[in-house]
Amino acid sequence: MRLHEPLSNWTTMRIGGPAEMFFEPHKPEFLADLLTALEKDGVPWTLLGGGANTVAPDGGIPGAVIHTGNMRRLFRDGNGLRVWPGVTLPSLVRSAQGLGLSGVEELVGVPGHVGGALAMNAGSAEWGIWDQVEEVVLWSPGAVNEEDGLKFRTWSPKEIQPAYRQGNLGGRVVLEALLNLEESSPLVVKATQDDFLKRKNRSQPVRLTSAGCAFKNPSGESAGRLIDQAGLKGHQVGGVKVSDIHANFLVNEGGATAADVRQMLAEIEQAVQGRFGISLERELAVIPEPL
Ligand code: EPU
Repeated sequence: MRLHEPLSNWTTMRIGGPAEMFFEPHKPEFLADLLTALEKDGVPWTLLGGGANTVAPDGGIPGAVIHTGNMRRLFRDGNGLRVWPGVTLPSLVRSAQGLGLSGVEELVGVPGHVGGALAMNAGSAEWGIWDQVEEVVLWSPGAVNEEDGLKFRTWSPKEIQPAYRQGNLGGRVVLEALLNLEESSPLVVKATQDDFLKRKNRSQPVRLTSAGCAFKNPSGESAGRLIDQAGLKGHQVGGVKVSDIHANFLVNEGGATAADVRQMLAEIEQAVQGRFGISLERELAVIPEPL
């Protein structure tokens, strides 16, 4: 455990004050034990995956921040992959390609970890990582599982009911997931990945300091197109700028703060509401400032 760890080191937007306590468990069972102990002692905790969709508060986070990035194991299981929550999406994509397993090609070029990707059902406009989930092992806050007295058990996607950019975990924490993939060949999987990557390189600011798409797409629309048509490309608030390449990406131009991001999100919401009468829903997880 480390004290006062700067969260700007752990979020892709490079924003965030210090975590009071910063934990990095190495195994899912250690994560479960830690969560249970913190809950028992009444210590507030915040889970941080790859920090690729998160804006951490300028004032930091009191209590415990648990970073899942050290739980990085991945096992082949039949045609599937059993993964721990800290497996990075680039490493998942690389492993699936090497093994000739198809199903997660759309995650190519996406930063973040498996745990966070499941929490938000990361993916494209039409596909999400939950489309490949066979089962997940989840730690649950509150009551223990009555059958065996454990705080964790295996869940099926049917029980969880994930939706577009919504893992629907209801405060539960991913300890492990089994992804269902299809046997293909490494070359075919690579060709599909290359295709997706080419498109992303053309349409997204992949090399800049951002946290992916800031807003979810409204039904049948593209948040990026709406923000673009509202004339906001290049708009800047403090150190945060609406990307010139894709208007749904906010880029840290240097020295951006969480306050800048909150102000920018509010301005975009107001502009799109005023121009099109559409309320945008945030995809970015903006953690509130401490009291
Ligand atoms: N467009 C504009 N201006 C812009 C951006 C987009 O006119 O500034 C137009 C494009 O020309 C296109 C349409 O909007 O006609 C859709 O754009 P794009 O193909 O880039 O897809 P998207 O709907 O904006 C979605 C996901 C991305 C994912 C891509 C590709 C959401 C909110 N976004 O973007 O996911 O990478 O498809 O699969 O679902 C993310 O969630 O963080 C994310 C990056």
